[in-house]
Amino acid sequence: MRILEAAADAITPLVSGLNRGDVLALLELPPRPEMGDVAFPCFTLAKTLRKAPSAIATDLENGLNMPNGAASVEGIRSEALGPYVNLFFEPRIWGPRIASDALKPEYGCSQIGRGQRVVIDSSSPNIAKPFGVGHLRSTVIGAALANLYAACGWDVVKVNHIGDWGTQFGKLMEAYQRWGDDVKLAAEPIRESLRLYVRFHEEAKHDPSLEDAGRDWFRRLEQGDLEAERLWSYFVGVSMEEFDRVYARLGVKFDHVLGESFYNDKMSPVVDELRDKGLLEESDGAQVVRLEEEGLPPCLVLKSDGTTIYPTRDLATAIYRKTVMGADRLLYVVGAEQTLHFNQVFAVLRRMGREWAESCEHVPFGLIKVQGKKMSTRKGKVVFLDEVLDEAVQKAQEVASGGSLRPEEVIDVAKAVGIGAVIFGDLRGSRMSEIDFSLDEMLRFEGDTGPYVQYTYARVASLIEKGIVAGITPLDLKEQNVFASVGSNGWACLKAVDGFPDAVREAVQLIEPSVVARHLLDTAKAFNRFYRSDRILTNDPAETATKLQLTAAIGAVLRIGLGLLGVRAPERM
Ligand code: ARG
Repeated sequence: MRILEAAADAITPLVSGLNRGDVLALLELPPRPEMGDVAFPCFTLAKTLRKAPSAIATDLENGLNMPNGAASVEGIRSEALGPYVNLFFEPRIWGPRIASDALKPEYGCSQIGRGQRVVIDSSSPNIAKPFGVGHLRSTVIGAALANLYAACGWDVVKVNHIGDWGTQFGKLMEAYQRWGDDVKLAAEPIRESLRLYVRFHEEAKHDPSLEDAGRDWFRRLEQGDLEAERLWSYFVGVSMEEFDRVYARLGVKFDHVLGESFYNDKMSPVVDELRDKGLLEESDGAQVVRLEEEGLPPCLVLKSDGTTIYPTRDLATAIYRKTVMGADRLLYVVGAEQTLHFNQVFAVLRRMGREWAESCEHVPFGLIKVQGKKMSTRKGKVVFLDEVLDEAVQKAQEVASGGSLRPEEVIDVAKAVGIGAVIFGDLRGSRMSEIDFSLDEMLRFEGDTGPYVQYTYARVASLIEKGIVAGITPLDLKEQNVFASVGSNGWACLKAVDGFPDAVREAVQLIEPSVVARHLLDTAKAFNRFYRSDRILTNDPAETATKLQLTAAIGAVLRIGLGLLGVRAPERM
């Protein structure tokens, strides 16, 4: 925060033995406004100086309040309170600085990651299976992370690692041969594939020969059998069409969409290297890398029938991302149930002497439950994302049509609100927490929802519009600013604006988009409190311009922040 930086600038010259970074790390944001905007606790200094913390606080208070004192940072008043020095920032001085910063394009962006490339693996659904709300989390978190990293100066490469390879295709082919219906398949490709897949698992319970037949098909596929390949391409094609429709609706794009099959010819060098380095061992006919030292179960590399498996493909994929794509950092946004898989893959890379395995990170997230139930593709209990989005938009449309929007605006706003609600609902909690998926809850206009933030943004936009109609634009304000009179609720808004760049940085440091989502909720709440307590459009042009500048600063934070999360911000709602 700008005010934190200024507090550190003011305090550092007055304390011996602490540098600016130390001071910055010690500073706190007090829980209540009467305790100041920033507080400096004196316990650490007390130890080194062998003095009572409260005595140090009093000395610091005097030093800070001395006119033209060592600190000489304008517009800060300090008050010792017990072991703390509380700093109060003058809105008259700091208000315009904070607000005008926020009105610069790219507010919140930094260059921390400059010169470094991050490859983000996200979404990565499986062919012939529905794009469920589970893959939604990976898609939405990955898209937000990509934006946040880019805002911090990173060179971002987004990859979608489509699950287009593996024994499940053999199963699907066997099921298709036995029970497939071309007409149904053409009409509803994914649903029909899913039915086949579910039936396969049910019948396989009584008929073990099915599993063998499935494995056989997959072997044919790996060996380039034409009939197997033809079926496979068909399933890939129809699934990709369906996925692309979902991505378009969510507004998500990828730099590379590569199926697992892309790595088919890149695995044997990996297997050879593992063998040459003496890392492969036989276990029940299969080839594994033992990971006892790491405290992990062995990583399966080749199955007993010689076919490759998920971890083998991820080894080849990681090496490709490092060497060909030039990744400095590799993130995998994949559900927490795959933690063991990634730990094994990264451990094998380390065993292979790939030190950069340290820059690989699994970014797990919690389950989505629908009415308390986990979903599983095998049993066919899935929610189709397309249907969820339709319903969200439908519900949003019912609400939007009740307002003042023109009919042609309603549809577009309903899309932004309905889909925005689903995205925001996914990002607002820390990513490891489970989500109990409830559209009604996500779509509420009051509460911690996307529509609440969007609605606040639309309110901001409409106030600015009214100001313009009245001939006052927020930028008119120069000398005659009256930020001194914005009151405590106005000042709280400015502090929320001031904290935005930190939220963006922290979201990247913690790989946690919810930091930004929470900050937007706090900012929207601060603004609505101000809106209820203060008249913004008054008869005094200077006051109005000041308050509109504050309003515009809030608007910038909400718009930029929603954009980073992948949520649209309509001007009218
Ligand atoms: N397709 C996999 C699944 O749905 C996720 C792939 C994640 N990415 C990876 N590189 N393994 O479970």
